[in-house]
Amino acid sequence: MRYHDTRSVFYQIFESLPRQGPGCAGATKNVFSLLPPLPDDAKILDVGCGSGTQTRDLAGLTTGTIMAVDNHQPFLDILNARSGEAGLQGRIWTVNASMAALPFEPGQFDLIWSEGAIFIVGFELGLSLWKPFLKKGGYMVVSDAAWFVPNPPQELMEWWEKKGYVPKTEDQLREQVDKAGLRLIAKYRLPEAGWWENYHVPMLARIDELRKTHGADPARAALLDSFVEEAKTYQKYKRYQGYTFFIMQLP
Ligand SMILES: C[S@@+](CC[C@H](N)C(=O)[O-])C[C@H]1O[C@@H](n2cnc3c(N)ncnc32)[C@H](O)[C@@H]1O
Repeated sequence: MRYHDTRSVFYQIFESLPRQGPGCAGATKNVFSLLPPLPDDAKILDVGCGSGTQTRDLAGLTTGTIMAVDNHQPFLDILNARSGEAGLQGRIWTVNASMAALPFEPGQFDLIWSEGAIFIVGFELGLSLWKPFLKKGGYMVVSDAAWFVPNPPQELMEWWEKKGYVPKTEDQLREQVDKAGLRLIAKYRLPEAGWWENYHVPMLARIDELRKTHGADPARAALLDSFVEEAKTYQKYKRYQGYTFFIMQLP
């Protein structure tokens, strides 16, 4: 497979989608409501923000400022354009940086938020890499893939293994929260709408469109097929797995 070819198709799918991972405004709002009130001038960090649908939702739920970090500049350009249209300039700032080496002074954020992106560095490492940037008493909210049952079907485990990322159970993730020295306030499972209407439906429509130009190229067609398979796998196994938000505090 020619990596550079498929990489451009990958971004042709995701740059045009409202979200780059499973999520929905209702979940962002419900999870945010589980936090105690933040200061009026709260400083918030959104890690792996993508084109920032949840960043703009967060801006609507708070009065503070949000530093939105991603390492793909076109996503940040889309976020800047949409923030401008929504009159949010001055509230949302974008930073092109690696989530593994955040370019901030320690101890400055009231809230660190990350939807569907911590898997890139891994849940355990992500918590320990980002925790130093919280103020004492500050909050961290992340969503990640999790098993909802202790023994998921073998076929599903193998599917994840092929993708190179095997989820943990919610209890195992909870242990990692404790190990990172964070206090778990609550957990929240992303509802099905966050997978289907808000993520897979627009993604599948975009894939149909891209098949017209890329379907004849085997490597590109295989990439498109892999996303269709992902959506089907979610539908088939949704009672065993999903995304769970962990709402945490630095004591
Ligand atoms: C699955 S998407 C989630 C995006 C967004 N939070 C959402 O829910 O729609 C993961 C994001 O992490 C970004 N990303 C990948 N590797 C990264 C890294 N090393 N540092 C910063 N961002 C990264 C990608 O560009 C992408 O926007």
